[in-house]
Amino acid sequence: MSIKEIVCIGAGYVGGPTMSVIAEKCPHINVTVVDLNEDRIKAWQTDDLPIYEPELLDVVKVARGRNLFFSTEIEKNIAKADVVFVSVNTPTKTFGKGAGVAANLEFIGKCARSIRKYAKRDLIVVEKSTLPVRTAEALEKILHSGESDYHFEVLSNPEFLAEGTAINDLQNPDRVLIGGRENETGQKAIADLVEIYSNWVSPEKILTTNTWSSELSKLVANAFLAQRVSSINSISALCEKTEADITEVSKAISMDSRIGAKFLNASVGFGGSCFKKDILNLVYICRHYGLNEVADYWDQVVIMNDYQQTRFVDKIIATMFNTVSDKKITALGFAFKANTGDTRESPAIIIVKQLVEERARVYVSDPKALKQAKHDLDGLDVVLEEDPYEACKGADAVCILTEWQAYKDLDYKKIYANMNKPAFIFDGRNIINPQELYEIGFNVYPIGKAALER
Ligand SMILES: NC(=O)c1ccc[n+]([C@@H]2O[C@H](COP(=O)([O-])OP(=O)(O)OC[C@H]3O[C@@H](n4cnc5c(N)ncnc54)[C@H](O)[C@@H]3O)[C@@H](O)[C@H]2O)c1
Repeated sequence: MSIKEIVCIGAGYVGGPTMSVIAEKCPHINVTVVDLNEDRIKAWQTDDLPIYEPELLDVVKVARGRNLFFSTEIEKNIAKADVVFVSVNTPTKTFGKGAGVAANLEFIGKCARSIRKYAKRDLIVVEKSTLPVRTAEALEKILHSGESDYHFEVLSNPEFLAEGTAINDLQNPDRVLIGGRENETGQKAIADLVEIYSNWVSPEKILTTNTWSSELSKLVANAFLAQRVSSINSISALCEKTEADITEVSKAISMDSRIGAKFLNASVGFGGSCFKKDILNLVYICRHYGLNEVADYWDQVVIMNDYQQTRFVDKIIATMFNTVSDKKITALGFAFKANTGDTRESPAIIIVKQLVEERARVYVSDPKALKQAKHDLDGLDVVLEEDPYEACKGADAVCILTEWQAYKDLDYKKIYANMNKPAFIFDGRNIINPQELYEIGFNVYPIGKAALER
């Protein structure tokens, strides 16, 4: 089958950018992204996109109205589709069995039911969302139960983009992974999806596997990445006790080609909507199969991440003479990482909440995430101020929580001049030069290296 009509359910951080790049690279295919959220769809139709992602608007503008469309009409669009990508959210369950660990597959299940109900021909259904291993089996059962006469071939095609670099990741992926059944219809569907990606991805980067390897590989990729962050953060705690310097240790180990340099910056910890939920999901699956030692092993990656955030707040309190009550503390950064407005699972949320509990007067600044911060910190007595210089005026302490380039380039002399003294700076991302700030007059507390205090 030559694919002419692609529909994607879910216009979020994955569905929007992924489909925009497919539409850009495949002008001969119509791509329609559908979502229940009307505001989101409306925003995709304007130049004020619902998510911040560098270069995304340029790509959208190339294809929107030509072969890229955004719509809330789910029924009509599924009816004309050759392929349906499912790119809805798969958060951690908050209720019932598996609460706090298992993936909530409610939205995926609803999509399967809509596809079964509205399809007007045989379809390929592509799991783009990150899902527990063997979800395709459940999807197939839902799709083929009841009245539909059509055949639905389920493929797994997990997305490896990282927010902040999504467009480059999609245009030049390290690999595209496609998993399917090892029978004739499965292999045929895999070939159809390979053909789409072949429009811009070279064949050696398109990896085809069985469905279960593909589903599991996505969870494992996130678990390995998060594990590196937790590993280096665990060593940062030891550095602070031993006068070793985490930046030096990172560099020394990263020059080992077997280890490599990426994901070795000590910080307040990883965030984002995926790492924590995907590891917890892996842990849940392991426990389900009675693999408790394996589950405990991966669980520790999340425990370590929580510890790093609490340790950061404990250090602030201990340093500021055991109380932050009525002291002004400014958080520079609220997004879970630079170059995104996404705050899901951002370490800043926990840190700000703990500081508010300690009755600090907290100000939060961020170039892209304040709209979201307003929502995350709803009901808390926190001031949001985009201008970092204003936010730091009269502060007793500044904490850097997101590694925005703008925070590396700030005029810290000006900030220091307007702060209460003694002035403290806690660099939760190790982006400033501690010695330079110390010379300005700050007491400086990086992660995993000696504090510079007077
Ligand atoms: N965000 C990332 O960096 C990233 C990277 C790789 C993979 N993933 C995975 O991709 C999936 C989507 O993540 P996201 O960050 O794009 O989520 P998101 O919350 O930004 O977007 C999901 C969208 O799906 C819509 N939706 C939910 N149920 C629907 C339904 N029944 N019909 C129509 N629309 C529906 C929601 O309204 C929402 O707009 C998740 O499984 C995630 O783990 C995310």
